[in-house]
Amino acid sequence: MKVENTQLVHAAELIRTGSVVAFPTETVYGLGADATNETAVQKIFQLKGRPSHFPLNVHLAHREQLSEYVEIKPKSRIAEQLDRLSPLWPGPLTIVFPQKKSSITDSASAGLSSVGIRIPNHPIAKALLELSNRPIAAPSANISEYVSATTAVHVKECFGDSICILDGGPSSLGIESTIIQLSEDHPATLLRPGSITREQLREYLLEELSSVGSDNQSGEKIIAPGQLKKHYAPHTPLYFIESDQEASFAETSKNLRIGKILFSEQEKACNESALTYFLSASGEHDECAKNLYATIRTLDKAHVDLIVIEKPQQGPLFEALYDRLKRAVKDPKALPSLAQKTSIE
Ligand code: TXA
Ligand code: MG
Repeated sequence: MKVENTQLVHAAELIRTGSVVAFPTETVYGLGADATNETAVQKIFQLKGRPSHFPLNVHLAHREQLSEYVEIKPKSRIAEQLDRLSPLWPGPLTIVFPQKKSSITDSASAGLSSVGIRIPNHPIAKALLELSNRPIAAPSANISEYVSATTAVHVKECFGDSICILDGGPSSLGIESTIIQLSEDHPATLLRPGSITREQLREYLLEELSSVGSDNQSGEKIIAPGQLKKHYAPHTPLYFIESDQEASFAETSKNLRIGKILFSEQEKACNESALTYFLSASGEHDECAKNLYATIRTLDKAHVDLIVIEKPQQGPLFEALYDRLKRAVKDPKALPSLAQKTSIE
């Protein structure tokens, strides 16, 4: 998808003058505003209906801009970790640094002294960042708690024509960036798994990643989507379904319209009447991640009573896929009884 240069110049001007612009990145679409402009950042929170205590990640065009917005002591442990991570930037990685500079508004970082920085690897995102010459605070371009947007149409479904949307076609990775937090005295912490896996990060970092709540002794409350119980959820109830539940479920849900998501076309749908979508030809995780949100959104519009999805198989993106899905699904134990109840109504 090609965005005209005039559109980019216009969008950059909107950012510079305090408006909100939705733009593509390789992970998901972002809803962006100048991170140094308090009023502009407030617009993001209002549009999304996002609670003000959830910090936004801030996007930069180049690593060289980092020192304008983040406090990093030369030769410190954080500087060393950052150096080691440099092959992963630009890319689908957000790094949370403990000390932001005052140029980033307090509302962008939700009053925390820390700030999450991302340098996206997408030509349209890069062009917007360069042309506007601003750091852009940009959460995922969806209504709070709903499924993230991986196409311009998804963004439009959430916000209509009220904002400028740069259409870069479908996001190539399809799930939000991996988030890690760096610390001067403790191992880096994984706040949200993503396309850059724990195993990959291990190759670059000084030590094993710790997990949220274990070794984080920075004293600052970490708020990351990974800690929210409900997130990424469609309006239609979504349930995990185990293969051994399939037969009894098919029996009890005869009168229901079921949407079903399977990871691989090689799997056979047991409940033949279900409206079935496959995330990939062979179950390959990259393809599943790329298609996950679009498929959930499609079924959410398909007037089905409920959607069922398999648990992801083990594989490179298991941690990221399972993380997103476990926050989107309802308690699987309720599934057969719910099916029975609804079919009688
Ligand atoms: O891939 C992505 O990260 C996309 C694209 C647009 O860059 N953005 C995205 O934004 O997913 P959002 O807001 O949906 O998730 C980013 C998360 C925030 O929810 C927040 O929890 C975390 O990054 N974050 C940002 N700053 C933080 C901070 N100072 N401390 C802890 N977590 C932070
Ligand atoms: Mg989000």
